[in-house]
Formats: sequence, C-alpha cells, structure tokens
Amino acid sequence: MVEGRGLENVVAADSSICYIDGARGILSYRGIDIHELAEKSSFEEVCFLLWAGRLPRREELEVTRAAVGRERAIPREHLSFLMTLSRTSAPMDALRTAVSALADSDPDARDMSDEANRRKAVRLTAQIATVVAAFHRLRQGKAVVPPDPGRSHADDFLRMLNGETARSSSVRALDIALVLHADHELNASTFAARVTAATLSDMHSAITSAIGTLKGPLHGGANEAVLRMLNEIGSLDHVDDDIRARLARKEKIMGFGHRVYSTEDPRATHLRAMSRAVAVSSGETRWYDMSRRIEKIMNEEKKLNANVDFYSASLYSLLGLPSDLFTPIFAVSRISGWTAHVLEQYSNNRLIRPRARYTGPAYPQPYVPPEDR
Ligand code: COA
Repeated sequence: MVEGRGLENVVAADSSICYIDGARGILSYRGIDIHELAEKSSFEEVCFLLWAGRLPRREELEVTRAAVGRERAIPREHLSFLMTLSRTSAPMDALRTAVSALADSDPDARDMSDEANRRKAVRLTAQIATVVAAFHRLRQGKAVVPPDPGRSHADDFLRMLNGETARSSSVRALDIALVLHADHELNASTFAARVTAATLSDMHSAITSAIGTLKGPLHGGANEAVLRMLNEIGSLDHVDDDIRARLARKEKIMGFGHRVYSTEDPRATHLRAMSRAVAVSSGETRWYDMSRRIEKIMNEEKKLNANVDFYSASLYSLLGLPSDLFTPIFAVSRISGWTAHVLEQYSNNRLIRPRARYTGPAYPQPYVPPEDR
C-alpha cells in the first residue's frame, strides 16, 4: 500500500475493534461480518460487542439494554441548558456543545478509572440520543418527551423525537442503520477522539472532538448534503444532465467514493435495500429512483461506488426524519464506536504526535526589524 496525503494507507494504531478489507468490501466488528450483524443483531448488542470485545450472553444483553435505557435520562439542569441554545442552531452544533456540557453533570466526569470510563461510555451513548431528540423538540417549541427505559434505543429515540410510538418497521430500519454506522476503524472522527484521548484528556473532551470532526461534509455531513443534492435535482428526468454538469464542473458528488473501499461499501448494500423497501411500501419512490440513476452514472463516469451516506439520506427522509438530523443520527450510532476506541486508547496509551514535513522558508531566516521591512 502506498502512503499518501491525508495519511492515506498510514497505519496509526493497533486496534482489535473493527476489521475492514477495502478491496474485498469486508467490514466486521470484532471479526463478525457486518451483514450478519445487520440481519441478526441490535444496536444494544453491537454496543456490548464493541465495548467488551465479544457478543453478550442473554443476561448481559438484558443488563446492557437496561443500562442504556436508564442512562437515556438527562439531568434537569442539562435540559435547562439545552433551552438556552438558539432554536436556529444547527442540531449538529447543538449536539457538540451539549455533549461538552454533559461533563458538568456527569458524576464520573473527572474519574479516569477504567470502570468510570466504561460507565461514561454507556451514559454518553444513551444520552446523545436524548439530546438530539430533546433539542429537536425544543427548537419546534414542543415539550421534551422523557425517555422510556423499557424501550429499545431505536424505538425510544423515534418516540422522543416525534412524541408518538413509531411503526415497528421504522424502528427496525433505524436499528439496522444504527448497527451499520456504529464503527468504522480509524475514520476521521474516531481518529480525532483517539488523538484527544491519547493526551489523557477525558472522554467528554474526546467525544466533543469527534462530533466536531463528524460534522464535515467529507465525513458524516455527507448524508445531509446528499438530500440537499436530491432536492436540487428535483426529479428523475433531471438527474443525467445535472450529475454530468456537476462532474464537468469538477464538483464532488456527495455519498460517493471512499478512502478505504475500492468496491462497494458493504453498508451501502443494506441501506440501498432498506431505502428501496421503505420507498416501495410507502409508494414514495422518487428519492430511491433518483438515487439508483445517480449511482449508475457515477459507476459509468467515475467508477465510484455509493458509500454509507448515499442511501441513508433517502432512507432517513422516508422515515420522516428532517435532513439536519441525519448527521446527528450518525453520531447517535457512532458514539458506540468512538467510546470503544477511547477505551482501547486508554488501555494502551501513548501520545499521538506525528511530524510535519517542513515546506517553509529555508532556515535560518533573518529577523528584520519593523522599520526595515
Ligand atoms: N465525486 C466525484 N469525484 C470524486 C468523488 C466524488 N464523490 N470522490 C472522489 N472523487 C474523485 C476526486 O475528484 C479525485 O479525482 P482526481 O484524481 O481526478 O482529482 C479522486 O476521485 C480521488 O478523490 P480524493 O478526494 O482524493 O479521495 P479521498 O480518498 O481523499 O476522499 C472521500 C475520500 C470520501 C472524502 C471522497 O470520496 C469524497 O469527498 N466523497 C464525497 C463525500 C462523501 O460522500 N463523504 C462520506 C464518506 S463515507
């Protein structure tokens, strides 16, 4: 593998969490294939798998479900804090600020023991869903819906967001999406989290770094950008001209390409199928049909495949989720992977501090006094 700009192909850590073979389109968590997890597992089970390194026994899964359910409750003072945020804030900005502020009310915030960090991993994973849902309610002037600890994470998130129980097909679709987004080796936001953790800073700081990194359109922000593009194109008969014109202008088409996969992103395979299923069952096939057409053109013109963000856009839109929540929902899932990586970093830590190749003026340069410049 040739190392390139942007740390391409650079191995920056040993990790036992996520295995990717980009040439064969393989993704696995702790060695278990993502396709099997998407079909058979649940978000809570994947959380345990990522944190503990193995699948839970039945009672361990129950304990994890109960803990995530219990920890979804956020302190009253934090809700008051959320109310002080501007209603016009982007939800991703609100989430970044809110997670930083959650340290204030976390009883373990300053405790860097492994047990405390594991409790924070569960708590942050649970709380992020509540924060996203609560901020969405508040910005619409609606009452915050308190969590119901007895429900699954996907079920309760949709209920806290919409104020009513979601259809079981929507809950299952979101649960699978959460499984698919949970971890992805040293992606940019996970790397940011590990860099922060490697200074022995605390978990809330590491996750705040990660959220800021996920936000960018070259990373998690791509899913929102995909829906914006679909809206701009408008209809199936405009796809060909529009996409070719964008490519002629050397624009990037959001939701395509990947630093690691040279074949199809295995997550896109599931998201495409789910997007199709929801489109057909709802009779709303416009986004799906347009997406398929864009995919064909991108394959023909650029030999690029859809990535995780491409079909999550149409899927989330069909589930009735507003587009500015797409990236926060990515965080609702990826928090499980971020926290697993932070725990792994703490367990065998060394400061992450690379070097830069200097390209500035040759040393030594004279210091010229202000009057002589
Ligand atoms: N649309 C059009 N062209 C693309 C492209 C896209 N989505 N992604 C990559 N390319 C092209 C680049 O223009 C470049 O072409 P060139 O060599 O002729 O200049 C080539 O493919 C390599 O792209 P580069 O940006 O250097 O690859 P990378 O490994 O640094 O980037 C991504 C990976 C994911 C950042 C990149 O594919 C991208 O920006 N995709 C769109 C954003 C996105 O969907 N992000 C979510 C990732 S999960």
